[in-house]
Amino acid sequence: MNKDFITLGIETSCDDTAVAVLKGQNIVLSEFVSSQIEDHAAFGGVVPEFASRKHMEALLPLVQAALSRSGIKDPSREIDLIAVTCGPGLMGSLMVGVMTAKGLSQSWGVPLLGVNHLEGHIFANLAEETSLFPPFLSMIVSGGHTEIILVRSFGDYSLLGATRDDAAGEAYDKVAKLLDLGYPGGPLVDKSAALGSSEKIVFPVPMKTKKEIAFSFSGLKTAVLWEVKKFRENDLVPPVNDICASFQKAAVESLICKLDLAHEMTDIAKITLSGGVAANSQLRRSLEEFALSRDLEIFIPPVARCTDNAVMIAAAGYNSYMRGERSDLTLSPSPSLLITSQRNNG
Ligand code: KG4
Ligand code: ZN
Repeated sequence: MNKDFITLGIETSCDDTAVAVLKGQNIVLSEFVSSQIEDHAAFGGVVPEFASRKHMEALLPLVQAALSRSGIKDPSREIDLIAVTCGPGLMGSLMVGVMTAKGLSQSWGVPLLGVNHLEGHIFANLAEETSLFPPFLSMIVSGGHTEIILVRSFGDYSLLGATRDDAAGEAYDKVAKLLDLGYPGGPLVDKSAALGSSEKIVFPVPMKTKKEIAFSFSGLKTAVLWEVKKFRENDLVPPVNDICASFQKAAVESLICKLDLAHEMTDIAKITLSGGVAANSQLRRSLEEFALSRDLEIFIPPVARCTDNAVMIAAAGYNSYMRGERSDLTLSPSPSLLITSQRNNG
């Protein structure tokens, strides 16, 4: 490891254009995220073609801003690595990041490394914490993923279980949509749930009785839909806060009970949480209570590092580069890249 090593991180896998400059494993010199939320809100979700165009507009100005904020005057001398998300994600969005990174790597003569977005989410914890070492269990809960991964060592990952249908964040977004709360739904459902009671309406906890590490949120979403329908068909206004509180209770319990199972099956007592849904207030609270009850060590990034950012990509890239990983100019985006696949060149 080299404490003075400077990594430029670039993240464009979905609808956030993010750039960061990192020194060593966890000193953030600068960090910018340009969110497209308002551009996509009118459509109720991310429009891929639009997202790519927005990345095109935002990315190079953000690189310039990140370099200037870090005091970097000559990137060809001062930057040691360009780490860019190469998958999974939206093809067009990933292409903007990867092609920009390749161009900068060529013009500055700086090494390039493609980073798996999910490995990035795991490293959101490393960019904060110097005492986190494998083996540990990592739960990634985002708009596109709900996974429990066994991190044997950095770079050696096994998928213990994933969702069979909707991702947790996707379920939050869909429930928000059917309650007319807006987009993205996660933070809005979170806020609404805090004002409601989970006692009045009870939704079943998905997969609770199955002795298997797997998730399923589409049934829960349908249960919410039927509940809302019942009110609307009787010309009644659905109790949005109570519905959000009950949905959130079932969703969070489902996530925690599978972490419990993974802990029981592997006997690993160290757990990290990451991804956009890790920003959820009840999930953070419940995980802390669960950890206390089982005497587990847990790591949760600050809210701003749960959602997509480039610090996590730079942190994962730095660590991979130090382990000997390299990419070359054939690096290309891989929309369905698995965390267990070879990182180099997508
Ligand atoms: O990790 P992320 O920024 O992008 C993906 O890689 O998907 O996660 C975005 C997801 C969205 O579905 C959003 O609704 C959800 O994370 N999210 C939340 C909260 N904040 C963001 N879900 C529940 N509670 C929150 N506070
Ligand atoms: Zn993400």
